[in-house]
Amino acid sequence: MTMPERFIVEPGGRLGGRLQIPGDKSISHRAVMLGSIADGTTEVTGCLLGDDIRATIAAFRAFGVPITEHADGRLTITGRGFAGLTTPAGQLDMGNSGTSMRLLAGLLAGSGFEVVLTGDQSLRRRPMRRITEPLTLMGARIESDDGMPPLRIAPPSYLRAIRYRLPVASAQVKSAILLAGLQAEGRTAVVEPVPTRDHTERMLQAFGAELEIASGEISIEGGQGLAATAITVPADLSSAAFFLVGAAMVEGSELLVQGVGVNPTRTGAIQILRQMGGDIVLSNERFAGSEPVADIHVRGSRLHGVDIRSDLVPIAIDEFPALFIAAACAEGTTRLVGAAELRHKESDRIAAMAAGLRILGTKVSTSTDGIEIIGNPAGFGGGSVDSRGDHRVAMAFAVAAVRAREPIEVIDCAAIGTSFPGFLETARKAGLNLS
Ligand code: S3P
Repeated sequence: MTMPERFIVEPGGRLGGRLQIPGDKSISHRAVMLGSIADGTTEVTGCLLGDDIRATIAAFRAFGVPITEHADGRLTITGRGFAGLTTPAGQLDMGNSGTSMRLLAGLLAGSGFEVVLTGDQSLRRRPMRRITEPLTLMGARIESDDGMPPLRIAPPSYLRAIRYRLPVASAQVKSAILLAGLQAEGRTAVVEPVPTRDHTERMLQAFGAELEIASGEISIEGGQGLAATAITVPADLSSAAFFLVGAAMVEGSELLVQGVGVNPTRTGAIQILRQMGGDIVLSNERFAGSEPVADIHVRGSRLHGVDIRSDLVPIAIDEFPALFIAAACAEGTTRLVGAAELRHKESDRIAAMAAGLRILGTKVSTSTDGIEIIGNPAGFGGGSVDSRGDHRVAMAFAVAAVRAREPIEVIDCAAIGTSFPGFLETARKAGLNLS
C-alpha cells in the first residue's frame, strides 16, 4: 500500500488495545545480508518489508542471490557464500536507507567486482567518511562525492585487519568494519567508547561466526564462512515507541504491544519514559533466537521533564522524535545534550522537531548538539507540520494529536513506508482519528 504525502489527525482521544508492530528494521537488514552471504538456506520470519529492507533485498537479488517472499511474510534466502555473489548490472539504489548503504559498503569492501551504491536526495546528503575512512585503512577502494553518496567500491588488492576506535557512537560504522573484517586478513577489532546496538554481533554468532566481545572491544577473525540458519525478527521497539509515547502521555490510555525487541542496546527510550514518570511494564520476557523480546504494557500518567542522561543517547537515538513529543506535554523542562548525531539522520531531527513543535505552540531552544523543551501539560495547539521527508518525525507528530486541541496536519510523510508500512492502519486501530 502506498503511503500518502500528507494526513490530518483529529485532536484528542486515547490510545488503547493490543497492537501488532512490524519487524525490527535493523535486525531485518542484517538477516537479509548475512543470509545472502551464508552457505545454505536461511528462513526469516517476521522480517520487516518496508522500503528500506526492500532496497537491501533488491541489492542481493542484483548480486544473484535468490530471495523468495512467501504469502505469510516469511523470506527464504538461498545463500551460496560470499564468493557466490555476482557482479550486479548497473548502480544499486539504496533509497532512503543509511543502514543499507553503510553496511553494504563494509560487506562489499572485499568483493571481486565493482559496484556503485546510490540513494535518494536525503541519503545523498548523509555523511559517509565515517565508513570510507576505516574501510580505506583496511585497503578498500571506495570513492565518494566529497564524503557523500554515491559510493563507488572497486575490488581491493588486499583487505587487512585493523583495530579501530569509533570516533562517533555508531552501530552502522561498527557493523561496516566487522562485515569487512569477515573478508580481511587477520583479526579486525572495533573499540566502542559507548555501547551501540549489537545486532550485528549477535547475528554473526547466530550464523556460526566466532567473535570476541570484551569491555567495549569486538573482534572478528577474517576468512570465516557463515552457515545458514533460521531467524525470527522481533517487533521493532523504534516503531512501537510512537504508540508507547502516545499512550504514556494520556491518562486513561492502556496499551499492550507484544513480542517487541528489548535488546538492552535499544531500550533507552523505555528508561527515559520511566524517568519522566511513565508507567511501562515488561512481561513475558523471552528470547527470539539471540534477541531478547518482551510484551510491553503502558498506562497513561502525568509525565514530568528530565535531564536526559548522556549514556542513554546512543541507545535511544531513533526514539528522540517521539520522546520530544512526550517532553512537550510534560510538566517542566526536558534537556538533551550530546546528541549531535540527530542532525545527521534522515533529516536534521533537532531542527525538524523544533520547527514542528514551535508550530504546535511549544517553547523550544536548540544547540548544535541538543534541545531544551519547555513542557506544557496543556498540550499542543494545532497546525500543519512538515516532516521534511523523515519517517520518524512524521510518526511523532501524528501521535502528538492525542494531546492537541486542534487538528494536526503532517506533510511530506510518504517516507513512513521505509520503516512502518502499515502505520496508518495501526494508528487508527490504536485510536487515532487519522485521514
Ligand atoms: C542503525 C544504527 C543507527 C540508527 C539507524 C539504524 C543500524 O545509526 O540510527 O536507524 O541498524 O545499525 P548510527 O549507526 O548512524 O547511529
